Amino acid sequence: MAVFLSNLRYVAWTALAVGVLMLIYFAMGVAGYPFGDRVFWEAALRWSHVLVGIMWIGHLYYFNFTQIPNMPKIPDEQKPAVTKVIAPAALYWFRWGAALTVLTGLLLAWNQNYLLEALTLGGASDPSFAAPKHILIGIGMWLALIMAFNVWFIIWPNQQKALNIGNKYPDLDAATKAASGKTAMLFSRTNTFLSVPMLVAMTGASTLF
Ligand code: HEM
Repeated sequence: MAVFLSNLRYVAWTALAVGVLMLIYFAMGVAGYPFGDRVFWEAALRWSHVLVGIMWIGHLYYFNFTQIPNMPKIPDEQKPAVTKVIAPAALYWFRWGAALTVLTGLLLAWNQNYLLEALTLGGASDPSFAAPKHILIGIGMWLALIMAFNVWFIIWPNQQKALNIGNKYPDLDAATKAASGKTAMLFSRTNTFLSVPMLVAMTGASTLF
């Protein structure tokens, strides 16, 4: 058992396989939806959407609640362990988690036939018929889209400069690096703020309406 649990690849792939088998058993066997039915895919997409959403927001909270506040407590000579090893690895799962969350979220809305309704906050049809569900999930989707934009087009490019990830910016001076790090931090903090109302929309849309 220790051999299995010590290998992250074994654990991750086996957990995914168990999740898929459970989904198939309950969606097809218990609930009776044939494979390929819209509801089957809705269940599959909800599961994968929340899974990759946790990967994204989990790393966002790691940066904001754990890494950033504790960096000043680390002696300078030990800081590279975080900036050269931990942060680049965390940024990898962080940005790809964000991309997959956007993809699965848009597919989830498309699967339920309200993608355009939600993105226009109910304005795609006669506004007097705008369903509150579409307005609420649309607000959540736009907040999350702004957050994903921040990740890919502000936080990630600035972190590449600040930490010289992949040795793309070997000649940047310390002041420019510090300014890039500060910009990345401020947008990361903005995303932490936005994540809270965003999740009200994500979780409330199917509960309240
Ligand atoms: C641009 C990015 C995103 C899009 C387009 C999106 C879209 C959606 C859609 C369409 C739903 C289904 C709502 C419904 O019909 O009830 C949903 C649900 C949900 N989303 Fe997102 N979402 C995004 C980002 C996120 C993020 C970052 C998280 C963080 C974990 C998240 C967590 C959830 C949760 C927990 C649900 C509820 C699932 C359920 O109740 O079964 N979403 N999202």
